[in-house]
Amino acid sequence: MKRPCFPKCRLTRIMGWLQLVLGGLVIIVSVSSLFRFYSAGFFLHNEDICKHFYAVIPENKVVDEGFDIIALSDRIAEVLNKMDNLQEKLELAVLQMEKKNEPLDKTNITILEHKKYLEQEVIRPLYNAHIALRQIRLPKLEGLRNSTLKENPLINTFVNEEIRKYITPKDNRVGKINIYGTEKVLNTIGHSCVLSKSELEKYMDYDIGSYCNDDWNLAQKLMLNGCDPLPRRRCLTRASKVYQKPYPINESLWQIPDDRNVRWGNYHCRNFQCLSSKNPKRGYSKCAGCFEMEKEKLKWVTNSSLPVDILISDVLAIKPGEIRIGLDFGVSTGSFAARMREKNVTIITTALNLGAPFNEMIALRGLIPLYLTLNQRLPFFDNTMDLIHTSGFLDGWIDLLLVDFILFDWDRVLRPGGMLWIDRFFCKRKDLDDFMYMFLQFRYKKHKWAVSPKSKDEVYFSALLEKPPRAI
Ligand SMILES: *[C@@H]1O[C@H](CO)[C@@H](O)[C@H](O)[C@H]1NC(C)=O
Ligand SMILES: *[C@@H]1O[C@H](CO)[C@@H](O)[C@H](O)[C@H]1NC(C)=O
Ligand SMILES: *[C@@H]1O[C@H](CO)[C@@H](O)[C@H](O)[C@H]1NC(C)=O
Ligand SMILES: *[C@@H]1O[C@H](CO)[C@@H](O)[C@H](O)[C@H]1NC(C)=O
Ligand SMILES: *[C@@H]1O[C@H](CO)[C@@H](O)[C@H](O)[C@H]1NC(C)=O
Repeated sequence: MKRPCFPKCRLTRIMGWLQLVLGGLVIIVSVSSLFRFYSAGFFLHNEDICKHFYAVIPENKVVDEGFDIIALSDRIAEVLNKMDNLQEKLELAVLQMEKKNEPLDKTNITILEHKKYLEQEVIRPLYNAHIALRQIRLPKLEGLRNSTLKENPLINTFVNEEIRKYITPKDNRVGKINIYGTEKVLNTIGHSCVLSKSELEKYMDYDIGSYCNDDWNLAQKLMLNGCDPLPRRRCLTRASKVYQKPYPINESLWQIPDDRNVRWGNYHCRNFQCLSSKNPKRGYSKCAGCFEMEKEKLKWVTNSSLPVDILISDVLAIKPGEIRIGLDFGVSTGSFAARMREKNVTIITTALNLGAPFNEMIALRGLIPLYLTLNQRLPFFDNTMDLIHTSGFLDGWIDLLLVDFILFDWDRVLRPGGMLWIDRFFCKRKDLDDFMYMFLQFRYKKHKWAVSPKSKDEVYFSALLEKPPRAI
């Protein structure tokens, strides 16, 4: 029979060629990944390679340190895997064709089917592999003057295009040094973002310019897990639909804000009333009672039953007029800052929304909330603050090494003569000595110092300490 073996033969031939091409691609990819290892100095036994390595790298200032070879090889492995799968699938298809063993003239593959097969089973996977390869950013020469080979940190870790865009350094437009004295602006994210990759990609998954998801709680979870700072986003944040103008400042300080000014979607409660400490289902545990103004109004101005409590008036009387700015570090709704404001002292209050709208509450009272986790160095310059007040968060759970880093940071920020006010710190009685040592190591002047029992094996501790001048 002289009939040409169209179309099965043709398909088989095409498949053969495709396999050859794919094989070639796989080899290229392997060789290029091998090359990266080799240029990073993994195979230095060969003399020629040594020569090449030592001759080329120092001359051209090719620095491979900091290049994320693990991320790169991960991505290459991904591509190789895709290609492997494709090849397997094609081979299987060819095998099945051979098995069918029908008379050639009866085989029935239309051109359309053939086209569809090529599109879906061959071209699409090939395209995906191609894109994945393209996304690998190899180090390139950067910098205007002192060119060094540097890879953008973490860039090969993420596939999401918006994250990659965010962390890519932005060169100054005219190619000059900017007012900060740098050639480019580097947007940073916390290195632990690598550990929360899928959550971060979810957080960064939006249409540019449209509304963001109502996902501040996802963002906060990322921050608390060390993905801090988070990348900025290019979407519009949602606000309460019925937002009212805030109360005037002469009324707002000691008034529970309007419920309508908070988006309640991600909280247990749906209004401020529900946040009362009497409600067992209020959805938060730290600072219970902070949303009850009658209780808040008593703090720091009335003699309390606890001997460890210190009054604001006593503190300010130590240095009249000298305490002007400060930080309240803890979990609160801003009552300390409100009282201090009445004394013409400006206090910034740190706040996390741990189950309740702490940030919104502080801001609606007309005070400044600072949305800050324990992960970061304080965003204040050295020797600037007159006062650091802390209550509520520093208690026995906290790791001693972490406390040490935090205390040294506070010491950095306090000005000479500034005050550290530790307010109702509490811990196990047996741990007290460890914490005492931490507070005492700075050799601050003790204005007040009091310990009193909290329960059978727990104690409260308060202190008012003054940072000494350091003439060095
Ligand atoms: C081949 O296709 C024609 C028309 O599409 C159909 O009539 C015929 O039965 C098919 N033959 C086989 C073996 O599938
Ligand atoms: C480039 O490097 C040299 C030597 O390391 C240094 O003196 C010079 O200031 C650098 N120039 C810039 C623009 O950073
Ligand atoms: C607060 O100030 C506004 C305007 O200054 C005034 O109309 C209002 O009566 C004041 N409220 C209180 C409670 O003093
Ligand atoms: C607190 O107690 C002290 C001494 O007992 C007293 O002198 C002071 O007036 C009291 N202050 C207030 C605000 O009650
Ligand atoms: C705060 O400042 C205002 C305006 O300068 C002044 O009238 C008021 O007496 C000050 N309050 C205190 C407690 O010093």
